[in-house]
Amino acid sequence: MVGIVIIGTQWGDEGKGKVVDYYAEKADMVVRFSGGNNAGHTVVVKGKSYKFNLMPSGAVRKGKRVIIGNGVVVDPKRLLEEIELLKKDGLDPNLGISERAHVIFPYHRDLDEAEENVKGKFKAGTTKRGIGPCYSDKAGRFGIRIADLMDRNVFREKLDFIFPIKEDQIKLYGGNLSTKKEEIFENYSKLGEKLKQYVGDVVFEINDATEKRKNVLFEGTQGTMLDIDHGVYPFGTSCNVTAGAVCTGAGVSPTKIDEVIGVAKAYTSRVGEGPLPTELKDEIGERIRKKGGEFGTTTGRPRRTGWIDMVTVNYSCLINGVTGIAITKLDVLGGIEKIRLCTSYGFESKIIDKLPANPEIFAKYTPIYEEMDGWEDLSSEEWSKISKIGMSGLPKEAKAYVEKISKICKVPIYMVSIGPGREDTIELKKVFQ
Ligand code: GDP
Ligand code: IMO
Ligand code: MG
Repeated sequence: MVGIVIIGTQWGDEGKGKVVDYYAEKADMVVRFSGGNNAGHTVVVKGKSYKFNLMPSGAVRKGKRVIIGNGVVVDPKRLLEEIELLKKDGLDPNLGISERAHVIFPYHRDLDEAEENVKGKFKAGTTKRGIGPCYSDKAGRFGIRIADLMDRNVFREKLDFIFPIKEDQIKLYGGNLSTKKEEIFENYSKLGEKLKQYVGDVVFEINDATEKRKNVLFEGTQGTMLDIDHGVYPFGTSCNVTAGAVCTGAGVSPTKIDEVIGVAKAYTSRVGEGPLPTELKDEIGERIRKKGGEFGTTTGRPRRTGWIDMVTVNYSCLINGVTGIAITKLDVLGGIEKIRLCTSYGFESKIIDKLPANPEIFAKYTPIYEEMDGWEDLSSEEWSKISKIGMSGLPKEAKAYVEKISKICKVPIYMVSIGPGREDTIELKKVFQ
């Protein structure tokens, strides 16, 4: 096995960062192919927590080659901050950045804010990082790419042309322009200079690695329910985040992908707007939020929480061709007497096991649950002990819950995560030799 993709099967924050870090040990290269600094991936090593927005999570493993592919939208300031933070910890990243990746400018953030304000009930509750407007410019061919930033004359010409258009758009939406054109030009030329050492045509490098049967890990962002096509539109993000995006966002053929690992949290969380059938607005929801630390990595917003929704997880397995599941945060559900899984929805006296394209209809779906016995609330030390024993060490009810998830989506479990740390992991299948 060589090309392994890690994607989120829910609404993001499933624990992709942790899973990527785990598998990165045996990877020769970790590649980001989607999203921007809307993503917030957490890796915990020996009690120290690293939070990444743009840097591939493999960067905590010293010297590991990490690549930002063309499908990513790059905020150069944020990326340089992440580089500096890693350097302070003696982890100077071995980073490559695609020259085809698009750049997020302050006017994208201004527009993000202004667009959300005019959208009213259609707003997604974005991270306000300028992600949507930057991908819009990419599709509309108003974008400025990393390669443009590397050339002062090209950057000047493009910015002179694009900036007044963006200024008008921000005005049209009643927003505020935060940064003047000249300031952008000077600041971003300097940021571009600093990034230059990392920039190149990474497509050849990634393909060369796959040709040589090296281990390449593709790190997904967001979750399938936030995918621009397959998610709950318009309450998701602005790019494809499903497995197919690896091909377009990193420049590799589908034939180079051997496995797709779908990360599924043992319950549901969601930050932002839109229907969420299994949402719990009671004390169990609050308990999960507190115990699971369900507050946005990027924005600090409290995440909405609920029971696992197997209709959406099943759909994700289908869309992404998931070959193995990594279940995370099983420890968080400890101490809840009865655990529920949504296996279908009820709507107009019918039982439905598919997602509607219309979010207004989806909002009317009521979850139909199967109930299982919960397990006791264990301390982090007790969970750590279990991770050393393996599956047989799990409380029998927790094991039954994991097996149930696997049975419903007809996909084997590759990993069970029972704590945020690298060591709090039960690995059931080795994907890299
Ligand atoms: P990502 O966006 O999918 O990478 O996920 P985030 O990092 O945004 O959110 C996942 C959070 O859960 C982070 O704070 C992780 O450190 C934490 N986490 C990951 N796996 C586990 C687990 O199995 N148990 C617990 N308790 N926390 C976990
Ligand atoms: P990771 O990679 C959770 C959500 C936002 C909002 C919608 C659109 O950490 O799992 P955007 O800023 O992308 O235009 O916001 O998508 N969102 C995420 N939610 N995890 C993420 O990433 C997310 N990235 C975007 O909250 O509802
Ligand atoms: Mg996250």
